Order: sequence, then C-alpha cells, then structure tokens
Amino acid sequence: MSLPQLSPPLANAYKALSSHRFRSTSSMQGFSELARERSKTVTSFYNQSAIDVSAEKASVRLTLATLLYSGKSPDGHHILSSAKYLHKELPVRIAHRIKGFRSLPFIIGCNPTILQVHELYIRAYHMLSDFPLIKDQDVEARFCKLVQQLLDDHKDVVTMLAQGFRECRRHMQDETIIRSFLDTTLCSRLGIRMLATHHLALHEDNPDFVGIICRRLSPKKIIEKWVDFARRLCEHQYGNSPRVRINGHVAARFPFIPLPLDYILPELLKNAMRATMESHLDTPYNVPDVVVTIANNDIDFVIRISDRGGGIPHNIIDKVMDYHFSTAEESAQDPRMSNLFNNITNSGNQSSPMHGFGFGLPTSRAYAEYLGGSLSIQSMQGIGTDVYLRLRHIDGKGESFRV
Ligand SMILES: Nc1ncnc2c1ncn2[C@@H]1O[C@H](COP(=O)(O)OP(=O)(O)O)[C@@H](O)[C@H]1O
Ligand SMILES: [Mg+2]
Repeated sequence: MSLPQLSPPLANAYKALSSHRFRSTSSMQGFSELARERSKTVTSFYNQSAIDVSAEKASVRLTLATLLYSGKSPDGHHILSSAKYLHKELPVRIAHRIKGFRSLPFIIGCNPTILQVHELYIRAYHMLSDFPLIKDQDVEARFCKLVQQLLDDHKDVVTMLAQGFRECRRHMQDETIIRSFLDTTLCSRLGIRMLATHHLALHEDNPDFVGIICRRLSPKKIIEKWVDFARRLCEHQYGNSPRVRINGHVAARFPFIPLPLDYILPELLKNAMRATMESHLDTPYNVPDVVVTIANNDIDFVIRISDRGGGIPHNIIDKVMDYHFSTAEESAQDPRMSNLFNNITNSGNQSSPMHGFGFGLPTSRAYAEYLGGSLSIQSMQGIGTDVYLRLRHIDGKGESFRV
C-alpha cells in the first residue's frame, strides 16, 4: 500500500498499526505514540473548511437504470463522463462520512481502531479532491489507479468498525447511536464501492456486463456459487454440511448487480447451515436440507432461505438484527462443540469463518433496505427459520432505487 501525503512518522505509524490490528501489550508504548500521531491527523484536519464545504453539498444518487442504459460510446466518452461524475461525487460522499465520525460521542471517536478508519476517510477525501480535472484518457487512467488503490486501502473497514465499536460498546448507553452510525456508514460505503467498481469495470469488455451490472443475472447460479462456498466452510468446521435444494423460479434471469448479493447470500447461507449443524450435533451425518426458493415478478424478486435448524428462540428474536449480537460464544461452551471450537477460543476471539461479529444479519438488512428491498425473518421455534430477502428490480415496474 503506498502512502502519499502522509508525513514519514505517520506513514510508519500507519504501517505498524495496519499490520498489528490485534496488538499485544508489549507494544503498548509504541501504540500510544501511534494513537497520538493518528489523533493529530484527525484534529489537524478538523478545521479544514474544504471538508465542511463538501459535507454541505447533497450527494447525487443515480438510479441503476441510468447506469445501465447510459450507453457506450465508441470513443470512450461514456468513461470520461463517468470518471468526472465520480471525481465530483466521491469527495462529497466521503465528507458526509467524515461528518458522521466527528459527530460520534467522544468515547467512541477516540477508540484507536475507529480513529484509524476516520483517518482513512480523511486521507481518501484529500487524495480525491487534490486530483486534477479529468480532461483526457491519460488523466482518467491515473484516476482509475487512485480509485483502485482506495478500494484496496478501505477493504477492511467493516471488520475494523466491528472491532472498534465492540471495544467501546460497554461505554455506550444509547444503542441507537451505534445502529444509525453503522447503518449509514456501511450503506454509504456499499454505494461508494458500487460506483467505484462500476467505473473500473466500464473498461472491461464483457458482453454480459455493463460495468458491474450483469445484464442477465441468474439468481440460481449466484445462489449455487455461495452454497458451494458456505458448504466448504461448514464442512471444515463441523465435519459435514446440509445439502441445499433450490426451487421456484430457477430459470429466472434479469439485469442486476451481483455485488450486494455476494455479501448477503453467504451470510444467510452460513447462518442457516450453522443452525442446522448445531441443532443436530448428535447426528451430524444426518441433517435436514436447507431449501432456497426464488420468486420473481415485475417489481421485485424474493429469495427465501429455509432451514430446519431449530428456529431462533423467543428470548433472542428481537436481538438478532442488532449489530454485535451473536450466540457464537454460547456455542463454543457446548461440550460437544469444544473440539470444534478449540482453535477459536484459544485465540480469545469468538469469530470464525462460519460466524463473525454478529454483523451478518444487520448488515444484510441495511444493504437490502438501501437497495429498496427488505430482509425479514420468520422463526418457527422448535423447527427452523425462514429468511426472506426481497430486492427491487433495476428496470422493473416499481420505482428504481438509487445508489
Ligand atoms: N437461520 C438461523 N437459525 C437460528 N439462529 C439464527 C439464524 N440466523 C441467525 N441466527 C442467530 O442470530 C445471530 C446473529 O446472526 P448474525 O448477524 O449472522 O451474526 P453471527 O453469525 O456472526 O453470529 C446468530 O448468532 C444466531 O444466534
Ligand atoms: Mg452470521
């Protein structure tokens, strides 16, 4: 990762901190220096009026239909206009996020991991707003490099926010602050990443795609891809995995963006498989199937994931959509699971590939709602759970959503 714009001590601090996300106490002294450097960056930019000015501007959200039908020009003109739009739009969106960080309660804002993300946003803001006007293809090519670099630099932001908020959660009485900050920040991040990868993908020549929009997305195919992935993780952790049957509109194809599905589907499938395996610990080689049903219509499409994993108990059903709520720790205490979880508990970290920070459901719901859809859960306590993911078509009869 290159670090333009950072002074050498800060650049070193930055490198050290990014490679030591899980720090040991022996590095505490160095660490407090890093934290001091970091808070200096954040406070020294605090009074920069450029960010305030950008934060006052409204962001321009485009419908995906606009992106899909904006057309290709042989001279690459469409790529230049897309780059110009991004160059203007990204600093505004990022400034809104910086404003969000500044409005956090003090105790959260000073958490070193959250400070680190805050700094990443400030850095991105300056790199983008210092970038020259995009007047020709050469500048545009350099802009793409910058966008790609920022995408890479920000790839761990969700994990970092999960980690940072978990550290300061106990100081917070008002849960709603965390929820609304994370809902807004994660959705805005999804929007930014969709626009950025869309622009980069416009350079590729794939007849099935316009940027990141797949012209003929098959829900069945993308579900199958994530079923394979989740089953592999599940087998690794539990020694076996449920089979998955897909039914309903299996032949459906329509224009859609795979990106949000690539996040939501593995989360929902992992949850269904984990519940199935953990409710059948005595018969791990004889577990009920997970059933995925696709329903497609003019306005939206629905993916229902049904498991027979015992359902979500009454006393936690209202909490499963909360950020950081997870029953991973309880599972680890079940003696039948102890050998499975040894590695995880030894490291003092309750996350494993099958379940993480309790971010799967709340993030998936926030993404679905951001895209004009919804995520809802029906639990049949004692039997299993149905999760309904509903997403609006890009070019359907209903109003198209904006990113
Ligand atoms: N299909 C399901 N069946 C039973 N419990 C579920 C199911 N999906 C989610 N849960 C419960 O909701 C909690 C939160 O889920 P999630 O947000 O994905 O976080 P995580 O998987 O990291 O625990 C899980 O820990 C589990 O207790
Ligand atoms: Mg999960």
